[in-house]
Amino acid sequence: MVPTIKWEKDSVYLIDQRKLPRTQEWFVCRSIDDVITAIRDMAIRGAPAIGIAAGMGMALGSQSVTTDDYTVFRKEFLEMTRRMKTARPTAINVAWAVDSMVKLVNEMRNQGVPAIKEAVRRESEIMLERDIEANRNIGKNGLSLVPDRANILTHCNAGALATGGYGTALGIIRAAFGAGKQIHVYVDETRPLLQGMRLTAFELMEDGIPITVIVDCAAGYLMKKKRIDLVITGADRIALNGDAANKIGTYQLAVLAKENKIPFYVAAPVSSFDPDLKNGDGIPIEERGPEEVVSFSGQQIGPDHVSAYNPAFDVTPYQYVSAIITEKGLLTPPYTRSIRGLFKDQKI
Ligand code: MRU
Repeated sequence: MVPTIKWEKDSVYLIDQRKLPRTQEWFVCRSIDDVITAIRDMAIRGAPAIGIAAGMGMALGSQSVTTDDYTVFRKEFLEMTRRMKTARPTAINVAWAVDSMVKLVNEMRNQGVPAIKEAVRRESEIMLERDIEANRNIGKNGLSLVPDRANILTHCNAGALATGGYGTALGIIRAAFGAGKQIHVYVDETRPLLQGMRLTAFELMEDGIPITVIVDCAAGYLMKKKRIDLVITGADRIALNGDAANKIGTYQLAVLAKENKIPFYVAAPVSSFDPDLKNGDGIPIEERGPEEVVSFSGQQIGPDHVSAYNPAFDVTPYQYVSAIITEKGLLTPPYTRSIRGLFKDQKI
């Protein structure tokens, strides 16, 4: 599998996910603005992946600051963080990466601007390495939840492409398959941008994992027919009470799963939690342009001037979530207590 994102000399290379699986093309970022564009226009997408891209983007931004005066450097750096945080609003990972960089810049105030620039770049590389490691641990921690011969349903793409590598929901699927479990995955196509059919199907097929793509609205029918044993999705932001934002359509899957007595699991690294938010009501939901709804593969299908509404995420209330799988272990209800435990070293 091609890497999602990498440094090459002084540029950040992203595999352009808008073109997958037909074409494997790099989107080259030479400036922070290139990274912001790549995130906003979804050349890179998936919460942990855009967090890593944001970290690398801050490194590119810091390189472009010409002063060696710490106060001036910090002022320009903070201005760039403000722009980066607006690239896409729902995933907390962007803010998490940017805030980690600000912390580093603050801590290194006496070490000189060149050393700080170096450290910011190194930190962005560490973010990538740690994310892959976290996903492997999510995979191990979720393994016991997947019975042999399970039919698993997943939504959108929470795989290697949505992260530094390996994936969260797909990390568990990879771990189960790697452990010899005979699993089969139903992949929601995930309208309107088809991350399921284009990216999840592509990734899992590359690994030789048996899959079947379904249209999003077939999920309920399959559940009722007892053809799905569990649902695993990723998350873009999880509030303190366990309410979890993810790709639009996730909420209805969770409700259908509960109705049909099927476990619904969320897989996410600690960087996707927002313990400052008491519940999901405060999660900003990105609304994207109507053209994504009325077009298919770049071609307009709907009538001219038709009105369309395109919320990109929804929030699944904690009552529908059977467990949350993180790199630090399995979280079970009551989530406020188990999520507080994840952040026990931080005052929340
Ligand atoms: O709009 P996208 O493609 O960025 O949405 C991605 C998702 O909803 C993923 O499920 C989520 O970011 C988790 S990725 C590990």
